[in-house]
Amino acid sequence: MQITMVGSGYVGLVSGACLADFGHTVSCIDTDAQKIEALKAGKMPIYEPGLQDLVANNVRQHRLSFSTDLVAAVRGAQAVFIAVGTPSRRGDGHADLTFVYQAARAIAAGLDGFTVVVTKSTVPVGTGDEVERIIRETNPNADFAVVSNPEFLREGAAIDDFKRPDRIVLGVDDKRAEAVMTEIYRPLYLNQAPFVFTSRRTSELTKYAANAFLATKITFINEIADLCEQVGANVQDVARGIGLDKRIGSKFLHAGPGYGGSCFPKDTQALIKTAQDFGAPIRIVETVSAVNDQRKRAMARKVFAALGGSVRGKTIAVLGLTFKPNTDDMRDSPAISIITALQDGGARINAFDPEGMDQARQVLDDLTYFYDPYSCCEKADALVIVTEWDAFRALDLNRIKSLLTAPILVDLRNIYEPDDLARHDFLYAGVGRGSSPVKK
Ligand SMILES: NC(=O)c1ccc[n+]([C@@H]2O[C@H](COP(=O)([O-])OP(=O)(O)OC[C@H]3O[C@@H](n4cnc5c(N)ncnc54)[C@H](O)[C@@H]3O)[C@@H](O)[C@H]2O)c1
Repeated sequence: MQITMVGSGYVGLVSGACLADFGHTVSCIDTDAQKIEALKAGKMPIYEPGLQDLVANNVRQHRLSFSTDLVAAVRGAQAVFIAVGTPSRRGDGHADLTFVYQAARAIAAGLDGFTVVVTKSTVPVGTGDEVERIIRETNPNADFAVVSNPEFLREGAAIDDFKRPDRIVLGVDDKRAEAVMTEIYRPLYLNQAPFVFTSRRTSELTKYAANAFLATKITFINEIADLCEQVGANVQDVARGIGLDKRIGSKFLHAGPGYGGSCFPKDTQALIKTAQDFGAPIRIVETVSAVNDQRKRAMARKVFAALGGSVRGKTIAVLGLTFKPNTDDMRDSPAISIITALQDGGARINAFDPEGMDQARQVLDDLTYFYDPYSCCEKADALVIVTEWDAFRALDLNRIKSLLTAPILVDLRNIYEPDDLARHDFLYAGVGRGSSPVKK
């Protein structure tokens, strides 16, 4: 099947490469000419494990190509996926659909023969209706159907998530389109991945409901962690104790600095706005979003407390900048707010991240970057772990201690054991592990 992927970012590029790997012929399009030139030259514009090889293999087999010429790529395609960004609209938190509607207009111009237009971007309820209206208005003779197929992949594990999804949600109101979508995902069908066929509007809402639920789970365990610190309980044991209950499940129960990234903050905001617009406010998500915003400042206060109340004139070594490990994505990373709060408090920041430093340079000012964890700690007054990259899990603690001016470790991901750190004579503050020496 011939497929066009409009938008070659984290979702479009991974989805395009995986669909090519299924045997389809995929053309990945982007308006960013530099990105397309890089891809043509075999350079990945993002860091995602396994992506470079997957792309190279499929380019070699002539199943995957890259272009800026959307109209040419749409001609002859049986399906055109829209995978462009849907950031928060400045000021009000609604999803900004400018890129989606631009893509719809451009796609309309190239349609010939029956084509399924698939919104893979995360879009509010009713966006499919508007995409349909735009295409019909731009090209009244076009024969097409608009389908919603939200993407659930996680950065850092994106290829595996795409190829072995928990489910594929398809909002299809047209029989011909259903046949095309079934054909596209046949390899997953054969793997017995569950398919949820539903209406377009239900599918659009499902994606937001999923992200809001996960954000709620994270926020719930974070607040339990705060209580653990006050009552001398251990949040990791609480998480295990509740997570083994199959009705709850163990995933997304890791206490930490609050959720961030390119999806949860903007998607919870967009859901809140949609719900308010329709007169059915989702108060639990409103609270989750507010609590999560405050959490990052609370994490900075944890660092202040570890240093005796003030960071003025201190140098803080920060390990991990991206919003999670195994990605270079800095969008809405908790590190941004935490570092900014520390700088506002008068601290100098040394920083190291295995993949995120190029993107960090674009969003954070006045950091000193290092190229390994140890040089980052040299002459710093405390170490703060913000992102749980594997490379930080087994640091040589004696060496770290000898490099720091004082043995202070604030571990915002709980990747170290308080007892171990006590044995190494560190002043250690984790998240929600009762015996924390540091009070908020
Ligand atoms: N990143 C994730 O983990 C993830 C997971 C699931 C869903 N999503 C959703 O998928 C969508 C895309 O997210 P992303 O992280 O891949 O964004 P991204 O910013 O990495 O990529 C979007 C790409 O679309 C391109 N683009 C914008 N307008 C275009 C146009 N008119 N024609 C062609 N290309 C255009 C941009 O240049 C960019 O390269 C969003 O709606 C997001 O919420 C993201």
